[in-house]
Amino acid sequence: MTEDKNISIHGQWSSRWAFILAATGSAVGLGNIWKFPYITGEYGGGAFVLVYLFCVAIIGIPIMMAEVMLGRRGRQSPINTMRSLAKAEGRHGIWSWIGWMGVLAGFLILSYYSVIAGWGLAYVFRTATGVMHAADSAGIKDIFGELVSDPEKLLAWHTCFMVLTMVVVARGVKHGLEKAVRFLMPLLLILLLILVGYAMNTGHFSEGVEFLFKPDFSKLTGGAILTAMGHAFFTLSLGMGAIMMYGSYLPENTSIAKTSIIISLADTMVALLAGLAIFPIVFSFPELAPGAGPGLIFQTLPIAFANMPGGQFFGTLFFVLIVVAAWTSSISLIEPAVAWLIENRGMTRVRAAVWSGLATWLVGIATVLSFSHWAFDFNFLGTVKHNGVFDILDILTANIMLPVGGMLIAIFAGWMMKPKHSKEELALNRSYKLWQFLIKYVAPVLVFVVILNIFGII
Ligand code: PFF
Repeated sequence: MTEDKNISIHGQWSSRWAFILAATGSAVGLGNIWKFPYITGEYGGGAFVLVYLFCVAIIGIPIMMAEVMLGRRGRQSPINTMRSLAKAEGRHGIWSWIGWMGVLAGFLILSYYSVIAGWGLAYVFRTATGVMHAADSAGIKDIFGELVSDPEKLLAWHTCFMVLTMVVVARGVKHGLEKAVRFLMPLLLILLLILVGYAMNTGHFSEGVEFLFKPDFSKLTGGAILTAMGHAFFTLSLGMGAIMMYGSYLPENTSIAKTSIIISLADTMVALLAGLAIFPIVFSFPELAPGAGPGLIFQTLPIAFANMPGGQFFGTLFFVLIVVAAWTSSISLIEPAVAWLIENRGMTRVRAAVWSGLATWLVGIATVLSFSHWAFDFNFLGTVKHNGVFDILDILTANIMLPVGGMLIAIFAGWMMKPKHSKEELALNRSYKLWQFLIKYVAPVLVFVVILNIFGII
């Protein structure tokens, strides 16, 4: 390989820490603070959390290592990375389909992710102006209901968030992206700790802890297992090439195993802290229920802020940070598509960002309407879902496309690549065998079994 081939045409992170921060920025997002608590609530707590943690450790970390490794070896968008790696390994070009499916998944996820991030933006203003502060818990619930049932407002906030995202994407990897995460991620952690501190004083902290950590296996339905596994992929940004893309900007000589473990631990910690902050509040108010669905954090956290000293300030800051966390994730959702447009269609970065942003914005309108005109109920493996297209998109992407993408990545890294190559890239000694075992057998088989089980095949 020549010197040039060791650097992506799109740029490179300035250091190992820049990569860790950016990948953590991708991983930590709405998935941790918004989605983890509400799906944990819907699926009954402890047992669900246990399956999720198990999947992060056994499937998530090895697949993250595989994605970073493939990205760093390929140095291009996931589609072209998979194509060139398949060729280099003497395999069929069809493996580039992993990249295609990933681009589609990222695009669909961002279309709804942006609408929810828009709720966050709306809440920045609602908290800052003191509207929340004046309301009681029932009023706070109503404020949420009014927001989501108004498509015009949702569309306006969705538009704002998409513009924010595409501005950073248009500016490229180093400018903006790296700088933004450096300060904001630690700040988010501090605010979460303050909220957990508040939750400890609600008098219902132990109930919250019990709900999160005491497994009741009778609640573990097929749908719960699939959702927990899907969420492990979603929260770590795996299975669609986002981490592969970020890996392609990684300097040589960085330990892939260490960085992957740091990112996964940080991500898991944020989710658990969010759970510890939210459930004690839920149990303090009879009108709130753990299974409230996607509105859960928007109906609980404002109560905490309304009741704590300096709540208006902390509340505003917290919603700003949620938006920032969503922002650093959404950039990575669209980056594979943008990089491909630059590589294969000869577009400038700005043009590629505008086109992919516009397309995503348009599809997002389906989610905007999912909470009002297009809302309908349906049964997903025993759990009733209320928000039509939004829920369908979420189930299709997080529960099906990401795990299948991850499984194919595992098969490629474990079976299609020569062990000599993966060993050289991962630079592991004894633990290489463990990674190899997990990536060849454990990860693909578990994903396969869960999916077959859902379709009633086994
Ligand atoms: N990991 C992000 C979150 O938890 O909010 C969501 C996400 C980002 C999923 C990037 C997938 C992805 F490729």
